[in-house]
Amino acid sequence: MKKVLSGIQPSGNLTLGNYIGALKNFVTMQHEYECYFMVVDLHAITVPQEPAALKEQIESLASLYVAAGIDPNKASVFLQSHVPAHAELGWLMTTLSYMGELERMTQFKDKSAGKESIPTGLFVYPTLMAADILLYDADYVPVGDDQKQHLELTRDLSERFNHRFGDTLKVPEPYIPEVGARIMALDDASKKMSKSSPNPSSYIALLDEPDVIRKKIKRATTDSDMSVRFDKEKKPEVTNLISIYAQCSGLSVQQIEEKYEGKGYGDFKKDLAEQVVGTLEPIQQRYKEIRSSGEIYDILKKGAEKANATASKKIKEVKEKMGFLLPN
Ligand code: TYM
Repeated sequence: MKKVLSGIQPSGNLTLGNYIGALKNFVTMQHEYECYFMVVDLHAITVPQEPAALKEQIESLASLYVAAGIDPNKASVFLQSHVPAHAELGWLMTTLSYMGELERMTQFKDKSAGKESIPTGLFVYPTLMAADILLYDADYVPVGDDQKQHLELTRDLSERFNHRFGDTLKVPEPYIPEVGARIMALDDASKKMSKSSPNPSSYIALLDEPDVIRKKIKRATTDSDMSVRFDKEKKPEVTNLISIYAQCSGLSVQQIEEKYEGKGYGDFKKDLAEQVVGTLEPIQQRYKEIRSSGEIYDILKKGAEKANATASKKIKEVKEKMGFLLPN
């Protein structure tokens, strides 16, 4: 069976962008593939985190995975820090990488821009991500558009390893949704929707109350043309809202355009808000149940056991190929 791996950082409010770009696909892929979905807590500390807040965010994100529909009996749900091979292969991948290729990563450039002291962790972030993927021989990696470049680096590193040490690592493919791979901010369609934005009305958090969601969508920026049409160049704001509508309703872009032909943005936005609320409310309900039951600890334990079994075999093989003397 083909394998899938992906992860999300526990760095605060998960957004509708994370859901549409990644989490939603995790849920559908679990039925077809052997899946590993992790909370990338080691990646989160590439920027400073307050320990108590980090702990809460980790538990919250793992619970959201399950609340969104990941079945822990089908897919392994685990924390990156519970599988030591991630950090270990991360180091080995770092030694295979070049400063130049890491300097070219746009995420690194964005995150380090204007900083006087740039954390080293931010720089080597993509080599740890490559390790995450390569440890499981993942065929597909469901991610949003912003991770494409990291996936390309992962492919380069695995090919480099195989070339130097013999065929060992699977070269993975990104799995990026056609509509919704890059959900944009509600107040500015030139920026991606992001949980780290200082303006909370620029994003919809998965745990936003229904009325907050309605308000944010009502206030979302549109244009003066008043037609519900998908056009990335000329109508980026409305196009973004149509993408969200399509992903939450299951309707195609064309069906949505037809439904709102001749109507203004008022009806469209009202219905869109109900589609988003209808998508998130059951997740929020289930989330509350999971948090109060404490079941997530067992789920994570089981997930880590399965992940460790796979990852420890791979790291052993990698070390053997590189010339390490393995313990008896
Ligand atoms: P992170 O935590 O920034 O985002 C998690 C996932 O959400 C997607 N995403 C979006 N998709 C559409 N529209 C948006 N506005 C939007 N914002 C975020 C991201 O593309 C991502 O898929 N480096 C990764 C985490 C990671 C990982 C991995 C992913 C670490 N190791 C191994 C895959 C495989 C990251 O920072 O994602």
